[in-house]
Amino acid sequence: MSTAHLSLNDKNFEFPTFAGTEHELAIDCGKLRGSTGAVTYDPGYGNTGSCKSAITFIDGEKGILRYRGYPIEDLVGNVKFTQVAYLLIHGELPTTTEFDVWRNELTQHSLVHESMLNFFDHFPVTAHPMNILASMISSMSSFYPQDGEDEDKLNLNIMRLVGQVKTLAAFSYKKSVGQPVVYPRTDLSYSANFLRMMFGLPTEEYEVSPVIEKALDALLILHADHEQNCSTSTVRMVGSSRANLYASISAGVNALWGPLHGGANQAVLEMLEMIQADGGNYKKYVEKAKDKDDDFRLMGFGHRVYKNFDPRAKILCTAAEEVLNELGVSDPLLDIAKNLEEIALSDPFFVERKLYPNVDFYSGIIYRALGIPTEMFTVLFSIGRMPGWIAHWLEMRSDPDGRIHRPRQIYIGETERRLNV
Ligand SMILES: CC(C)(COP(=O)(O)OP(=O)(O)OC[C@H]1O[C@@H](n2cnc3c(N)ncnc32)[C@H](O)[C@@H]1OP(=O)(O)O)[C@@H](O)C(=O)NCCC(=O)NCCS
Repeated sequence: MSTAHLSLNDKNFEFPTFAGTEHELAIDCGKLRGSTGAVTYDPGYGNTGSCKSAITFIDGEKGILRYRGYPIEDLVGNVKFTQVAYLLIHGELPTTTEFDVWRNELTQHSLVHESMLNFFDHFPVTAHPMNILASMISSMSSFYPQDGEDEDKLNLNIMRLVGQVKTLAAFSYKKSVGQPVVYPRTDLSYSANFLRMMFGLPTEEYEVSPVIEKALDALLILHADHEQNCSTSTVRMVGSSRANLYASISAGVNALWGPLHGGANQAVLEMLEMIQADGGNYKKYVEKAKDKDDDFRLMGFGHRVYKNFDPRAKILCTAAEEVLNELGVSDPLLDIAKNLEEIALSDPFFVERKLYPNVDFYSGIIYRALGIPTEMFTVLFSIGRMPGWIAHWLEMRSDPDGRIHRPRQIYIGETERRLNV
């Protein structure tokens, strides 16, 4: 492998390089500060490889997304979200026997600790479900044992997290609308269970629509992992201090909540509502997004990594069409969304900056068509992302190069000054 040369202050330094399995070249600058006295400056970490990872591969230029080597296009529609969860966490798709055991265990662990139900009553009705979810996941570490690296207990905690996240999510919604919670059932699939807990009532039977179940499963798969994004990096960073799995994941949920990350799917719908309330004048908002003196951005457009197209958005664009047709939904907000999409794909401002509709643009539209309330959109993202967070936490814990995450800074404040005493 080639060597990187750095010339600094009339001195020459050499740094080893290495490549990943997809030929991504990295300069190992682990000894940079020790040998040169300098540090790298990389705001937003756009050029920094924070770890080696074998979980997800993204090629933003070519629009490729693969989980453990499998293209996302192969997984969606062909396997279930729970199989993908197993794949991400264990490295391989489960055999039929492994899947039966895994599915059964996830179902057994989908009931939340009964005492935790009291917590829901004490949040104000205005509480955002992402905040409730993060708090609930954090409090799971009080209810379930955290015995360091004990593999059996760790496995149990993993199943509790994947199994219970959908229950906690549905319960937080039920509490927010003042309805009784609906417990999970062992005979339903992961997605069907979530839908029944969200929309069902204890007083009557709830029939899960196969169209909605399929669409939800696809959405969960598409959100299951996305390598070192903000929330996953947060999970790794918190976990690097040897904080327990629940504490690390709850930090990830909080990171995901932000509107520049997972919160964008809610922001998309809020933007569409704002445009509708303003007489549907979407062109005015396109102009605002292009105006350098205006902070407004078209939510659901652009991506740090994907610069040609977001492969998840491509799948969801077709899925949105199918879901809307099959459910016979007609919605003025969706017409505004279509108009924005059309303009953004042809206007030079967006084309030159490669600002394509991203996953949050279409997921928001589908969630709305499925009848999911806007405030729950990012919660749905969290359910999907759970196996990815867990897989990264496990990988980080077993990384032989792993150390507590502790970046440096370039201090730009006052130099030493003294009190006049
Ligand atoms: C996703 C996002 C945070 C990526 O940010 P980034 O990689 O740091 O890109 P930048 O902020 O440097 O933007 C590059 C250029 O595109 C413009 N831009 C980026 N996203 C834009 C948007 N959604 N609307 C209008 N302009 C946008 C920027 O103003 C900048 O223009 P300039 O080069 O003339 O200064 C950004 O595109 C964004 O804010 N999108 C909207 C929120 C969103 O949908 N988030 C979910 C991501 S999955």
